[in-house]
Amino acid sequence: MKDTQTTLNQAVALILEYLEGNWHPDTKVVNYQTPDVLQEKLDLTLPEEGVTLEELIPTVKSYLNYSVRTGSTQFFNLLFSGSNIPGILAEMVTTATNTTMHTYDVAPVATLMEIALMKNLSSLVGFEQGEGLLVTGGSNANLLGMLCGRHKVLPEAKLKGLGHHRLVAFVSEQAHYSYGKAANLMGIGLENLVKVNSDAEGKMIPKALDIAIQQSVSERKTPFFVGATAGTTVLGAFDSVPEIAEITRRYGLWLHVDGAWGAPVLFSAKHKHLLAGSEFVDSFTWDAHKLMGVPLICSAILVKNRGTLQKACSGGGTDYLFHNDEHNAYNLGQMSLQCGRKVDALKFWLCWQYYGSKGYEQQIDSLFELANYATEYIRSCEHLELIAEPQFVNICFRYLPQGNQLDDTAVDKLNLAIRKRLIHSGEAFVNYARYQGKIMIRLILANSELQKTDLEIFFTNLVNAGKICEATGV
Ligand SMILES: Cc1ncc(COP(=O)(O)O)c(C=O)c1O
Repeated sequence: MKDTQTTLNQAVALILEYLEGNWHPDTKVVNYQTPDVLQEKLDLTLPEEGVTLEELIPTVKSYLNYSVRTGSTQFFNLLFSGSNIPGILAEMVTTATNTTMHTYDVAPVATLMEIALMKNLSSLVGFEQGEGLLVTGGSNANLLGMLCGRHKVLPEAKLKGLGHHRLVAFVSEQAHYSYGKAANLMGIGLENLVKVNSDAEGKMIPKALDIAIQQSVSERKTPFFVGATAGTTVLGAFDSVPEIAEITRRYGLWLHVDGAWGAPVLFSAKHKHLLAGSEFVDSFTWDAHKLMGVPLICSAILVKNRGTLQKACSGGGTDYLFHNDEHNAYNLGQMSLQCGRKVDALKFWLCWQYYGSKGYEQQIDSLFELANYATEYIRSCEHLELIAEPQFVNICFRYLPQGNQLDDTAVDKLNLAIRKRLIHSGEAFVNYARYQGKIMIRLILANSELQKTDLEIFFTNLVNAGKICEATGV
């Protein structure tokens, strides 16, 4: 045990050193290597004979050395950023205790925490009689939202299948691609997932939704589900829930909100208006592993009415697993599509306990302020062009040469080259997207530690990279 402790202490020291590195201005976001080179640097052979715990340390070191520092203040690539100490602590305890979430008996503390967490999220959304479950990601939560919708509109499908019904679901053209996966998996077919037009800000156009629903009815199809988005992946747009809810109510459709990215605005007195009307919807996706900074994966599906998830998902396992005992009301397994389910509740709990709801409110408000700062910076920089008016913490822009004479294809190529240069040099990690035919840089502000100076460093590096790429004719 003493040796174990020494090795674990060594590992903890390495992890802390790694995390401290995120703060150092000279630390690269990534020590970038091509796959061929990296394979040579890592020893990827598995041994016949096991090794000692201490002998695992070099592997831990290389893992830390070559992994992308998502916690760096120059990482703007994805809709999450880094980790935090309460989350790491929770993951250590969860892994040490290693259990599964199907019954209260085997996961008593985690079950009660998960129920309490879901109650708190439900209350923020406005579901007073709601329930929820932690699932394996926002994509999965969207799938479950769609399944609940199918169960409401066509409950017999659970037993008999879709029969002659041609179910149709509606999302905006800016919605996350997971809805397509859900439509595929549920057997409704990708062609029956209608992508409703969005406006200049990227919000679903309610009138277009109404027309699309009428069209499906006239084709003798069965509309059943509308998926609105709170915080779209690229532009950060919030669909208008009240206007969409009025339509779904009129046609008797299930209304799901994908709040994987934008849901935490509900913590903020200043910004929660973006999700006005959330209490009217039927189900809701909330990713705590995005803007709330809980380590991946930590996603919730929330439903307005208790019992919904169990009705839609249950089936099997009662003879050997769910014993219908006196604690049945606490057995979450039948609400899930999984059998074994990891404990995600502890990391969520410890993070929320550590930051508090007020802390989350401050983080959200501060990121919005930084988004304004970044927007103004872009507006005032002759080399940068804002592509869409930011509504959230997604800032979409592109680099332009001074007195730009290039056509759009050449500007696209230039921006792709800039991004690659920033990543390969380790100066910054940022993503790009195509919108209205143009390649643009998508700057995501998800790191609650970000300061204005980090943004200044990022823009300076990006403009410098742009000038170099221009000069070298990339
Ligand atoms: C709006 C939106 N919904 C759903 C998802 C999928 O979430 P996850 O990665 O947790 O599956 C994403 C991912 O970025 C997203 O942006």
